[in-house]
Amino acid sequence: MPASALERLKSLLGTTAETENGYLDLLGTADQAGPPTGLTQRLMRTTLLPQVYERYWRPALGRALKGPLGPSMAGEVRLATELLELKAGHTVLDVACGTGRFTRAFGAAVGPDGLAIGLDGARTMLAKAVAEGGPDSVAYVRADAVHLPFGESTVDAVCCFAALHMFAEPETALDSFARVLDPGGRIVLLTSARRSRQPARLIDRQAES
Ligand SMILES: C[S@@+](CC[C@H](N)C(=O)[O-])C[C@H]1O[C@@H](n2cnc3c(N)ncnc32)[C@H](O)[C@@H]1O
Repeated sequence: MPASALERLKSLLGTTAETENGYLDLLGTADQAGPPTGLTQRLMRTTLLPQVYERYWRPALGRALKGPLGPSMAGEVRLATELLELKAGHTVLDVACGTGRFTRAFGAAVGPDGLAIGLDGARTMLAKAVAEGGPDSVAYVRADAVHLPFGESTVDAVCCFAALHMFAEPETALDSFARVLDPGGRIVLLTSARRSRQPARLIDRQAES
């Protein structure tokens, strides 16, 4: 019987860590991947948000940011998959995968011989991603997106949608993406700006003061 996607992910990471809850957890008892960056990132760790994320939260927020003519969620997934030029047998890393909407599509694109890895820092998001199921080529890991736990040139493609603006050190994260990517591999990014005067950031600052 071929090794499961989770076993292949463990061997790629060179870890024998046990998996509970259907994903590999490299952050142990830490609730947060890296330093906290604000309210939105904290919301992702709640139990409620992952339940409404794919159906309501992400489409509504995406529509507000992309405007009426921007792509739908299905369109975004299609665009990312096409731009990555995924082929059967490829290994693709979906950084800050959330509930796995993109990871599942990538899993279908790379087929049973490929590996689609969803990485996220939030236990609740990953629990929902695992519960959603998907192709056998999909596996999830809890880790920090800024300091990726993978070796040099280990993946053929990297996707990071709707998350870079949440990371404590986005530039370091980009360096990390480039490091793990095989030469000639492809990266797709979708992000918004992190402004100090965003409403969520202002509320967050009030909450901290
Ligand atoms: C808005 S969601 C994006 C999910 C998905 N990529 C999409 O486009 O719908 C952002 C995700 O980034 C994750 N995240 C934020 N900071 C992170 C970090 N430092 N390391 C790993 N994941 C992080 C959150 O837990 C959340 O699931």
